[in-house]
Amino acid sequence: MHPPANQPELTQQQISDEIAERHRRETDAASSAGLALAAHPRRDFAPYRSTVLRHPTHELVRADPEEIELVSPAFGHTDVAAEEADMTIQHTGEPLGERIIVTGRILDGDGRPVRNQLVEIWQANASGRYVHKRDQHPAPLDPNFTGVGRVITGDDGSYRITTIKPGAYPWKNHRNAWRPAHIHFSFFGSAFTQRLITQMYFPGDPLFALDPIYQSIVDPAARERLVAAYDHDVSEPEWAIGYRWDVVLTGPKSTWMEPEDADHA
Ligand SMILES: [Fe+2]
Repeated sequence: MHPPANQPELTQQQISDEIAERHRRETDAASSAGLALAAHPRRDFAPYRSTVLRHPTHELVRADPEEIELVSPAFGHTDVAAEEADMTIQHTGEPLGERIIVTGRILDGDGRPVRNQLVEIWQANASGRYVHKRDQHPAPLDPNFTGVGRVITGDDGSYRITTIKPGAYPWKNHRNAWRPAHIHFSFFGSAFTQRLITQMYFPGDPLFALDPIYQSIVDPAARERLVAAYDHDVSEPEWAIGYRWDVVLTGPKSTWMEPEDADHA
């Protein structure tokens, strides 16, 4: 997002101070109320500037889940080609960058594997550039990399993709704002209403502390859960570096148990 023309561009220090202040405020409020820190991103997180304009300000409209589930997608193995899980073979040549394998298991809130469900993936290329007309920063496109993949989870809830490690990219939230390298994931759970969209990060990224999107999750343990682990058993000799990233979708019970008057801000 570009800052409005009449507003001065903010520095990283100003954004970092805002993040620290918001974390302090929420940590104090949670500890004095005896509550756990929020594990999901704050929808209204001012250091991530565009959330101020687009976060929901009214209660969510309650829908009948049964009605929604009547039209929910039901993907089978035949709907998604096995090659779609390998984002390095979608073109005539090999994409540039560090070839990686990402694998893990998708579980529901009760710890059961989420089987035969669609996982969608999208990401920037090794230079940090998306194939998207809104991404015009001066890094090269790769003619051999689109950055979109799909995979269906196995009976044990597992998924496995082969791709290229994405680069960091600038995003104009403030001056010199760079997103840590990340892969976007969409998961359909066992019902359409459980769809979760999130980002997976790479261990040890120095940009974590500076990124208002990563930091919009106030609970440090919940932030950590978005970071994949290097796994030497997933790495393949002379071929690819391996990462493991397991995901727990919120189960129907945990959603159901949430009090209706909870503060969703
Ligand atoms: Fe992104």
